[in-house]
Amino acid sequence: MNLFVKKPIGTLLAECEGGGHSLKRSLSAMSLVALGIGAIIGAGIFTLTGVAASTHAGPAMVYSFILAAVGCAFAGICYSEFSTMIPIAGSAYTYSYATMGELIAWIIGWALVLEYAVGAATVAVSWSSTFDSILLSFGITMPRSIVAGPFDTMPGAVNLPAIVIICIISGILIRGISESAKFNDFIVVTKVTVVILFIGIGYFFINHANYHPFLPPNTGEFGSFGWSGVLAAAGQIFFAYIGFDAVSTAAQEARNPKRDMPIGIIGSLLVCTILYILYSLVLTGIVNYKDLNVAAPLAVAVDHMKGLPWVGFLMKLGSLCGLTSVMLVMLLGQSRVFYSMANDGLLPPLFSQIHPKFRTPWKSNLLLMVFVSLGAAFTPIARLGNLTSIGTLFAFVLVCIAIVIMRKREPDLPRPFKTPMVPLVPILGVIVNLALMAGLGLITWAAFLIWMTLGLVVYFSYGRKTSALQNAELSSPAAR
Ligand code: ALA
Repeated sequence: MNLFVKKPIGTLLAECEGGGHSLKRSLSAMSLVALGIGAIIGAGIFTLTGVAASTHAGPAMVYSFILAAVGCAFAGICYSEFSTMIPIAGSAYTYSYATMGELIAWIIGWALVLEYAVGAATVAVSWSSTFDSILLSFGITMPRSIVAGPFDTMPGAVNLPAIVIICIISGILIRGISESAKFNDFIVVTKVTVVILFIGIGYFFINHANYHPFLPPNTGEFGSFGWSGVLAAAGQIFFAYIGFDAVSTAAQEARNPKRDMPIGIIGSLLVCTILYILYSLVLTGIVNYKDLNVAAPLAVAVDHMKGLPWVGFLMKLGSLCGLTSVMLVMLLGQSRVFYSMANDGLLPPLFSQIHPKFRTPWKSNLLLMVFVSLGAAFTPIARLGNLTSIGTLFAFVLVCIAIVIMRKREPDLPRPFKTPMVPLVPILGVIVNLALMAGLGLITWAAFLIWMTLGLVVYFSYGRKTSALQNAELSSPAAR
């Protein structure tokens, strides 16, 4: 067995062309940008910002947003090169299969479950509490037992709204990608409007005294204000940027991937970075950072906007939309990564079976629906948000490394989009993203290592034996 067997690039490109059972190419450049924004703006910006500002960085959280954006930008540029070179559904998983071989590809695929499936479950829990608070504003109170899981701070029996929203989204995904894209476009417009509205209206409520001190001095403890606080906050709010890479999982469904993938990836990242910077400046300008240690910082800021009660309701509605599209893109991304892994024989074939009419991997969507909703409904998943970040950062690091390897191994392969200054840009990507990983704390690291060990057990007991590439190698005349 060759654990580092690499998938030949020719095979990958042939797969991109696809047969009758391939995915449908229907996404435009704008839909790809919308897909990215749809995945990015969500729980991170609407909830994590308050805690990051109040416990780590104060108004200087804006620097944390810039730092995290730099890490994402390096990775985004590398993703763009790969997604135009190999426009295929598996994203980071596929890129590493071609460059670093099967074992690393499996490891990345397994880490991506943290990003997409665990991420979707985490966001579903936020969705449920936002939904609950919207109902409350209409005077409707749902019993605690059906809106919270058994491990929540105020425990219930089952998180029913989380189950319902995951089932609805899975239904939309099974129905088809162009319908999903239309639904996503609508939702994205709504949530971006709400964020812009918050920035525009909030600007007039800024109290400049709140910006002094802009960078509160370090308290003597690492990560508690000062520059180390800026780094710690960057690790925490990195979650808010997760999602732009999901654009690359839709490469096989893009109409013109060579031109549109970089537009989709870098465009959505750029739009969100600008919005986040303005948003964090306005938020810490309206409310003093010391008062932001709350689960719903947006609501606190809106309370300061006297005389505009409708703004609060709109904001909640906007975040509900935001969270919905994040889940949509994450569940889409996860099913597409599984699709590629099953095509390669590393996962059971049912993950790559395409619905004859809708041309979507419907069985995979159904299975994900069951597991993700169970996770959101009954486990303390919301406390595992940092796991999503570490899994994503790990994938970013490996994609940056893969760019350098690919340039050496396949220097002549057509690259419609080229990462500038290789190896400098990928190396900087590795350094910044490793630094952000380091900021995530011991518990997250321990959970990450346990998850990855489990992945190795699955690979060695299943994938290694069923791998199409391994079996082809074994049966080839050269191997006999
Ligand atoms: N970036 C996504 C969010 O903030 C994961 O919810």
